[in-house]
Amino acid sequence: MSNLLVINSSLRSQGANSTALTENFLQQWRLQHPRDQIVQRDMATDPIPHLDEAMVGAFFTPADQRTDAQQALVKRSDDLVRELQEADVLVLGVPMYNFGIPSTLKAWIDHVARAGLTFTYTEQGPKGLLEGKTAYILAARGGRYQGTPMDTQSAYLRDVLGFIGITDVHFVYAEGLNMGEESFSEGVSGADSQINALLA
Ligand SMILES: Cc1cc2nc3c(=O)[nH]c(=O)nc-3n(C[C@H](O)[C@H](O)[C@H](O)COP(=O)(O)O)c2cc1C
Repeated sequence: MSNLLVINSSLRSQGANSTALTENFLQQWRLQHPRDQIVQRDMATDPIPHLDEAMVGAFFTPADQRTDAQQALVKRSDDLVRELQEADVLVLGVPMYNFGIPSTLKAWIDHVARAGLTFTYTEQGPKGLLEGKTAYILAARGGRYQGTPMDTQSAYLRDVLGFIGITDVHFVYAEGLNMGEESFSEGVSGADSQINALLA
């Protein structure tokens, strides 16, 4: 039995294309792994606050010297880290917004990329501490950028997940979703086929 952590990062709590991808993914997954535990986060209804000076100050204050307010700030991050540590499989629903990932997903990354918890520095350089996990990135895009230099989103996610030790990363793309009805249907059915192929 595995633990899945699913993070939907669309701005939209209803009708989001990326969330439809994660739902399709989970439907297929449950058929094969009915006993797996699934934890879901939705950034539209429960956004993670962006890092600020107070939070970073709390992170870098030794645990036994933190004020009550600092402990509360660190607790949110600690809880997110624990949730990720406990996951065997990470599933991210990722819209493209202005050529990048949603800022709420970046905020989540900023909370879970924690020195000493999810990565460490060694004499050979940084080392990710979250090994043995698999990530599925389900990307929804209005245009078509897969495989072009303008798709910095994929490279960034691969890099930052690798930095914390998650190197087994698979991508599914639903592209051309804002380019007319035919293109939308092709993008969605193409993504469904990619999910089926990945989970076959
Ligand atoms: C604020 C905003 C910015 C967007 N920027 C891009 C973009 O840079 N490239 C692109 O292909 N589509 C862009 N889109 C279109 C979305 O990627 C597309 O509608 C996608 O399906 C959104 O996923 P969602 O429905 O899960 O939120 C943008 C949409 C919004 C709302």
